[in-house]
Amino acid sequence: MRNTTSLLRNARALLAIAALAVTGAAMAQNYSTELIEKGRYLATASDCIACHTATKDKPMAGGHAISSPVGEIVATNITPSKTHGIGNYTEQQFSDALRKGVRADGARLYPAMPYTAFARLTNEDVHALYAYFMEGVKPVDESPKASTSLPFPMNVRASMIGWNLLFADDKPFEADAAQSAQWNRGAYLAQGPGHCMTCHTPRGALMQELGSESLSGAQIGAWWAPDITNSKTHGIGSWSVDELTTYLRTGHLPGKAQAAGPMAEAITHSFSRMTESDLRAISTYILSVPSHKPEEPAGRNRFAHGQATDATASFRGTSFAEGMKQSGVALGSQIFTANCASCHGASGQGTQDGYYPALFGKSITGEANPSNLIAAILSGVDRETPQGGHVFMPPFGGQDNAMVPLNNDEVAALSNFLLTSYGNPGVSVTAAQVQTIREGGEKSSLILLARVGMAVAAVILLLLIVLIARKRRNRV
Ligand code: HEC
Ligand code: HEC
Ligand code: HEC
Repeated sequence: MRNTTSLLRNARALLAIAALAVTGAAMAQNYSTELIEKGRYLATASDCIACHTATKDKPMAGGHAISSPVGEIVATNITPSKTHGIGNYTEQQFSDALRKGVRADGARLYPAMPYTAFARLTNEDVHALYAYFMEGVKPVDESPKASTSLPFPMNVRASMIGWNLLFADDKPFEADAAQSAQWNRGAYLAQGPGHCMTCHTPRGALMQELGSESLSGAQIGAWWAPDITNSKTHGIGSWSVDELTTYLRTGHLPGKAQAAGPMAEAITHSFSRMTESDLRAISTYILSVPSHKPEEPAGRNRFAHGQATDATASFRGTSFAEGMKQSGVALGSQIFTANCASCHGASGQGTQDGYYPALFGKSITGEANPSNLIAAILSGVDRETPQGGHVFMPPFGGQDNAMVPLNNDEVAALSNFLLTSYGNPGVSVTAAQVQTIREGGEKSSLILLARVGMAVAAVILLLLIVLIARKRRNRV
């Protein structure tokens, strides 16, 4: 009896060992769990998932289209699938894609992949990222449904060689010995993995980042990434390190700003999942970046406009029909009362707990560029916190899940009401501007420029050929 049980026990133990050996062989790890976890954290800090994921159930399998002024660029499958992903990438090839914008087959990537920022990544961090992508990400054996197709001449990937020569700076991060370790950690995270500059630094005619105007604000599609230099009047110099850390962790800084659009995505997937000490380091660095513009003499920043104003007072006695007659659309105050006041309060004061924010004293209504106000009304707010919280405002742009679809005239009238009552009265919005934001922002003249450039190049080439031909003829 005793023998049979011990035999059984031994057999079970043997089976368990065999099973372990089999799974162990299938998942032979070349990298330590510690290294893979380090890579996972860096991938989070770099927000690879935001661009490389189209559906939640297939992380990193690609398919998400990034709108650029020249058309949509689709992020590819970067799971370790050997057939459809980057499973065959060597570490060197992975490093070149990340830091130089060169694909394994030698083709150039478009800078919609932020390799200009990732160029700052250290060798050790690229090594950890490689370990994570090879052994910490589930392979997905399928290609994204959409693929990139840009108009001529942008479809010529080799044209990026010239762009890289002119603009890409592939110098690794260099610590500044005069600054603290915390500042240097923050500078590395902000310039490299966190790629704040990719969105917040204005670009020149050829889409290159203007280094001398670092972080002074830029349009990215429908959204405006505001000036976040340390200017007290046009940047965020009036914020403390604590405040910026709170904003990066939660996307909500009571009394000053909340994040929607691309910043909400970056916070949901990336910044809110970083350690408190890394967020403080980023904030310390960001709040030291100077502005190249002089302070405005008036001194009022975008967080100091507007006050609580009862919207109904401005149309008391005016019916919707009368309002319509006056301006062709209902008055902005009427649109506000009908659609917004239920959450944001009749006087735009929000709720006590701040979940529904006040609309005055905020970046979004005080900013000189009204893109975010229009875009937030059209597309709402959708942000998650790692604790499982969900911040949600419905879109009003006519999407499937929209509350009441508002047309361009209505959004313009509403925006102008919000700006005059709760925000910067010097700013106004037209229906045409609303339409531009609906279409994802201004289209660039880059294609035109490039086509003109190609034409000029072709003419020069022709002239050269003619000249050479003449010389030859003269020689004969
Ligand atoms: C802002 C969006 C964005 C972020 C963030 C981003 N990528 Fe990309 N990535 C892209 C796009 C878009 C492409 C395709 C570009 C093209 O086709 O030229 C791409 C291409 C790549 C490629 C080339 C794959 C191939 O063979 O097609 C690799 C490798 C890659 N990314 C890795 C990463 C890693 C690792 C991270 C995080 C550290 C990351 N990316 C973060 C947008 C992004
Ligand atoms: C993908 C683009 C993108 C990236 C990357 C990004 N931002 Fe932003 N950021 C935005 C946009 C767009 C807004 C405006 C959001 C809104 O008001 O709803 C914004 C808003 C902000 C604000 C609030 C400013 C205000 O006046 O309301 C701060 C602060 C900020 N970002 C800091 C950062 C820092 C620091 C980083 C890097 C660690 C960063 N951002 C990376 C796009 C981006
Ligand atoms: C169902 C409730 C609800 C309704 C209705 C609603 N909002 Fe919001 N609104 C919210 C929430 C929640 C937020 C996000 C707060 C945060 O980001 O922490 C928000 C944020 C905003 C912001 C700030 C976005 C930013 O990026 O700073 C603006 C502006 C705004 N709402 C305007 C409006 C307008 C105008 C209407 C009417 C057309 C409206 N809201 C209707 C709940 C609502």
